[in-house]
Amino acid sequence: MRMKKVFSGFLAMMVMGLLGQPAFASEDSSAHARTLIIYFSQPEEMKPGAVDGFSGASVLQKNTPETGSTQFIAQLIQKQTHGDLFRIETATPYPRQHDALLRVAEKEQQTKARPSLKTPHPDLSSYDTIYVGYPIWWYTMPMVIYSLFEQNDFAGKTVVPFTTHGGSRLADSLREIARMQPQAKLVTRALAISRNDISAPDVPAQVEQWVKQVQPQR
Ligand SMILES: Cc1cc2nc3c(=O)[nH]c(=O)nc-3n(C[C@H](O)[C@H](O)[C@H](O)COP(=O)(O)O)c2cc1C
Repeated sequence: MRMKKVFSGFLAMMVMGLLGQPAFASEDSSAHARTLIIYFSQPEEMKPGAVDGFSGASVLQKNTPETGSTQFIAQLIQKQTHGDLFRIETATPYPRQHDALLRVAEKEQQTKARPSLKTPHPDLSSYDTIYVGYPIWWYTMPMVIYSLFEQNDFAGKTVVPFTTHGGSRLADSLREIARMQPQAKLVTRALAISRNDISAPDVPAQVEQWVKQVQPQR
């Protein structure tokens, strides 16, 4: 009898695994359980004096030196929505040195690269609302975000973009997302925060306010 119980528990776990339950446990299984925050962020090595004013190094006065600006915002969104959080990392890592990173990113854009992911992202079919975060790179989204939007189906899903930038705000990203995913419900009231404002004390409240406006209620 006991064996049977153990076995059926095991079986249930197997079935859940096969059904592709997200491996990224949500803290809240009720209101916002079907929310995913997926983002790309590339914190850079700080090298004083080596920063130009526009694309300048991702200055990290946030929580730790390892936290990128977009990552910081993604964490704030997660705290509020209790959604699942997934950080996109590319199979080939980017240089952490600013000038080298600028060059690699520029080359990727010129060659229309579609970098692959180091670890597969969660099954998007498990989510209704997907926050997608990215820094602006060379006046658009990093090419790995193009990989995400070209290689997945966001039809019917609420897509909520957020970005950090050095002056370009959302650049062309809303237009590009709409072009690649015309069937998605794209929230155009997207969040764009300058990397220079990331450490401002009112940023958490600003993000909270924004989430209240864009997060669909179930
Ligand atoms: C390769 C590269 C290209 C960039 N191009 C732009 C740009 O075209 N416009 C802009 O406003 N900021 C640009 N930036 C600045 C980043 O968007 C900004 O520092 C962002 O907050 C970095 O986010 P992260 O720390 O999450 O990676 C660029 C940064 C890098 C590294």
